[in-house]
Amino acid sequence: MDQIKKEWWKEGVLYQIYPRSFKDGNGDGVGDLKGILEKLDYLQDLGITMIWLSPIYQSPNDDNGYDISDYEAIMEEFGTMKDFDLLLIGTHVREMKLIMDLVVNHTSDQHRWFQEALKSKDSPYRDYYIWKSPIDGGPPNNWKSYFGGSAWEYEKSSGEYYLHLFSKKQPDLNWENEKLRQDIYKMMRFWLDKGVDGFRMDVIPLISKQPEFPSYKFEEIPGGLSGAYSFGPRMHEYLQEMNKEVLSKYDMVSVGEGVGVVPENALSMVGEDRNELNMVFHFDHMHMGRDDQDKFVTVEWELPEFKKIFREWDQALGNSGWGAIYLGNHDSPRMISKYGHSEGFKLASAKLLATLLFTMRGTPCIYNGDEIGMTNLKFSDINSYKDIESLNYYQEKIEEGEEPQEILERLYHQSRDNARTPMQWSPFKHGGFSDAAETWIKVNPNFSRINVEQSQKDQRSILQYYKKLIELRKTLPTLVYGGYEDIYPQDKEIHAFIRHDDDYKLLVVLNFADRILRFHLPGPIKEYPWKPIMRNYFEPLIQPSLGEWVLKPYEAGIYVLD
Ligand code: GLC
Ligand code: CA
Repeated sequence: MDQIKKEWWKEGVLYQIYPRSFKDGNGDGVGDLKGILEKLDYLQDLGITMIWLSPIYQSPNDDNGYDISDYEAIMEEFGTMKDFDLLLIGTHVREMKLIMDLVVNHTSDQHRWFQEALKSKDSPYRDYYIWKSPIDGGPPNNWKSYFGGSAWEYEKSSGEYYLHLFSKKQPDLNWENEKLRQDIYKMMRFWLDKGVDGFRMDVIPLISKQPEFPSYKFEEIPGGLSGAYSFGPRMHEYLQEMNKEVLSKYDMVSVGEGVGVVPENALSMVGEDRNELNMVFHFDHMHMGRDDQDKFVTVEWELPEFKKIFREWDQALGNSGWGAIYLGNHDSPRMISKYGHSEGFKLASAKLLATLLFTMRGTPCIYNGDEIGMTNLKFSDINSYKDIESLNYYQEKIEEGEEPQEILERLYHQSRDNARTPMQWSPFKHGGFSDAAETWIKVNPNFSRINVEQSQKDQRSILQYYKKLIELRKTLPTLVYGGYEDIYPQDKEIHAFIRHDDDYKLLVVLNFADRILRFHLPGPIKEYPWKPIMRNYFEPLIQPSLGEWVLKPYEAGIYVLD
């Protein structure tokens, strides 16, 4: 068996900041760079080693910064380039790394390139985007946008359609154009030369389009839109070129947002011998619990399915690739609302999920707020929602004649805004996020109970538990590089797995049920005694003995076997 190569980004802990909602440093109700700078000590104290910032570039904010109008300027609401430079220094002096979001599948329609492209078909920038003539007076094919409706927008003055896989204010870039690629590489060097430590690459598997632009039967394609659009014929070529021209020249990390990435094709993108990307965020577990055809419709999910996903991914990446482990981000409901028990067993289930996050093989990624147990938020009217995806969906369903109340109920479970409410720092005004009269999106009213200040005082808080887990991961390399073996694949309530290397054999046991369970370990590892290293309950029911355990609801524990 080949040895896994040791790397700083495998050993680290990543923390995702959604800048709009993290901390408002100037009292206008919107989070900003100054706010993030104020909170670097908090992150360092937690043990974070890498920070990933969702986009902070100039943007008209049709999709909260994922529509960029200038890649080399800072969004005015977030501050100045000087604020950025200070943030970078502040991060580095605390021995943390800073990772930027790289959104290069599309730009904003306000980007200079697109504005130039609009001026004339002869503009050199025209070909930076994807234009097609109408077919039978309509769009060139049946491609749909991720945010609803057609992926083609008609542009009157030229009589052509342009492609936008996301909002119509996010035209897709044409990666076939070599000059465009060089412009992107140049921009990447601009940030790397400043000293940033890596990129999280937004929807990167979408950059190469099928040259024939065929219509698809999306319902029949595994993975739907992403299955159809991702891994186009030149994707690997582009990533290898980018690697050769940019990535390989710096000590940096690259992590791809893996839309359309499945265990079967993952290594082709992150395999060590590929010279493309370092790691990938896959979506398989995030797509659980929602309908395949309509992501806003919540469906039941079962633990064996969840385990199977992580087992298969671990096997697929093996010793020659690497993944990022996450349970929440800015595009999903809150982790505890989705996988945990956000009422009765909130504390235990949040700690159980954290245990999982830090004990799988792959770089753990915390989404801001999950470390204090922030939850979904029920907005009572559509006007409180800000996310373009949720707003478009609501509009579309209203037009189809559905009941507002029913649509709101779906948003409550699945809207991306659940994860975008402001970070809850204290029990005071707006949860300590901002001094403004109003914040850009409402603060979750549970801030009076769930907030950083309270969590720091309480030795039993979720936050303290995260801190210990992070410390444990740093001191026990078995948790980073050790093999992963799922020993209870079929059980619907218990997840138990082994992490092992030459030094240790660790057992992780997680009770996903909201009731007390008796649990027998399968044959080969009945050895006793097992030494607990960490548990989420201060008073577990009884010590494991003779292979039988009694587990409290949502009990989680890490044990050394030998
Ligand atoms: C990614 C981002 C998401 C954004 C989309 C378009 O999925 O995470 O927030 O809307 O790309 O850029
Ligand atoms: Ca602000």
